[in-house]
Amino acid sequence: ETKPRTPVIWLHGLECTCCTESFIRSSHPIVADVIMNMISLDYDDTLSAAAGHQLEAVRKQIMKDYKGQYILAVEGNVPTKDDGMYCIIGGDSFQNVLKETAADAAAVIAWGACASFGCVQNAKPNPTGAQPIDKIIKDKPIVKVPGCPPIAEVMTGVITHVHTFGELPELDRMGRPKAFYNTRIHDKCYRRSFFDAGMFVESFDDESTRKGWCLYKMGCKGPTTYNSCSKIQWNEGTSFPIGSGHPCIGCSEPNFWDKGPFYTR
Ligand code: SF4
Ligand code: SF4
Ligand code: F3S
Repeated sequence: ETKPRTPVIWLHGLECTCCTESFIRSSHPIVADVIMNMISLDYDDTLSAAAGHQLEAVRKQIMKDYKGQYILAVEGNVPTKDDGMYCIIGGDSFQNVLKETAADAAAVIAWGACASFGCVQNAKPNPTGAQPIDKIIKDKPIVKVPGCPPIAEVMTGVITHVHTFGELPELDRMGRPKAFYNTRIHDKCYRRSFFDAGMFVESFDDESTRKGWCLYKMGCKGPTTYNSCSKIQWNEGTSFPIGSGHPCIGCSEPNFWDKGPFYTR
């Protein structure tokens, strides 16, 4: 409680802003606690009150005052084609802004599938040359928090860890925090007993759907997807895609758009 808050610069590249939408719905810890007591969210294109040149001045000031100490959080990925002209922030390309801001950051957090792996912008034919941030930033520790979006409590859980222990959480071989990405959706899915018994939904409008049988034959990617949805769930533990009758589409795995179609095996 006596620790000074960690300065955070939160950049937005090519993205849809739903990682932020997820983040602001965290219930444990509540997002107000994160922002008031753990981090100082000094720059965020979408959440900051200031905008334009005033906000860019804040970013440069934080980079100077907290050189080597601030966390760079990145939502979205980096269009690299045509000198990065497909995402311009404050008159410069996102690619340049990202490189400039990462240079003096203590560490980088990649929010969501976009920043971690590329997501839809990076799917074939990838017209803007969109790349995940680890293709641009090579000299900083990067925590990948994939999902489209990531679970709110996973996002704030990562921040809580960094704030509490003053270090990054333990990561797996893909750079994801082990605490949240060490099991597959399938491992904790409440429909697993139907899978084991060979009881599968064959059509979205048949009796097996109403009975809640396993969605594997409808294209469920739960057996190959590492995330916490079947453990933590969403919306304060209310449900998750499979709980509402939809197969997992593997949104936290690399290249999940190109691994479709979503509704067949
Ligand atoms: Fe949006 Fe998904 Fe990208 Fe997050 S990862 S910004 S939810 S498209
Ligand atoms: Fe596994 Fe998906 Fe079936 Fe759940 S619904 S048991 S995650 S295949
Ligand atoms: Fe994504 Fe599958 Fe969870 S689609 S939200 S990883 S259940």
